[in-house]
Amino acid sequence: SPVVVTVDGPAAAGKTTTCLALADIFQMEYLESGRSYRILALEVLQRGIATDDHPAIVALCDDLIEESRTSGLLTAGRYTSQDLRSSAVNVAVSAVSGIAELRRRVTELVRIWAGGHTRCVVEGRDIGTVVFPSAPVKFYLTAAPEVRADRRVAQEGASSYEEVLEDVIRRDRADMSRAASPLVPADDAVTIDTTELSLAQVVEHMASVCRS
Ligand code: CDP
Repeated sequence: SPVVVTVDGPAAAGKTTTCLALADIFQMEYLESGRSYRILALEVLQRGIATDDHPAIVALCDDLIEESRTSGLLTAGRYTSQDLRSSAVNVAVSAVSGIAELRRRVTELVRIWAGGHTRCVVEGRDIGTVVFPSAPVKFYLTAAPEVRADRRVAQEGASSYEEVLEDVIRRDRADMSRAASPLVPADDAVTIDTTELSLAQVVEHMASVCRS
């Protein structure tokens, strides 16, 4: 079975950047599970499906899985990151990711993907708690919302600080309060508050945990 490193945490906590660095250091494959939720949210918007129409969204998910066979939903290149990170998608994804039946499907896809790799790092909200509860190395990355919003603005530059901060706080609340797999640190996760840390310091800390 594959060796999985899990990285969970609230929006814009630096998961992607640190996961890419870890993947590079330890020669692991990397998967951003949030991308699947974003693809689903974008398709829901583009097809004019209401975000509270759970049966229609689950049916859409099944269609997309069918179309993409084993890997397309997770790795398809036909969505630009600009499309997937629009403010409309940021809003819709909170509703879409709250649907328990949809989460079960994405969980299954992520497990299938991981089964094809000997070593991987997977980021998301429920990876250490639900998707891979027995992963040997788990991280929970967090930071003050203001710092996360600052970093996201510096990285994407499109929206204003106020808008990004509001979105980050709103999505965190939705992720932490949903009934299906709410965002919480796994009991055995190493929590890193990156508020006062540089990217290099965070990566160094994570790499030392991976080595131990
Ligand atoms: O990059 P950022 O932290 O802004 O978000 P993301 O990782 O792309 O995830 C987008 C959204 O998908 C989150 O706000 C969550 O609601 C949802 N998500 C989830 O519910 N479970 C996951 N494993 C990953 C993402």
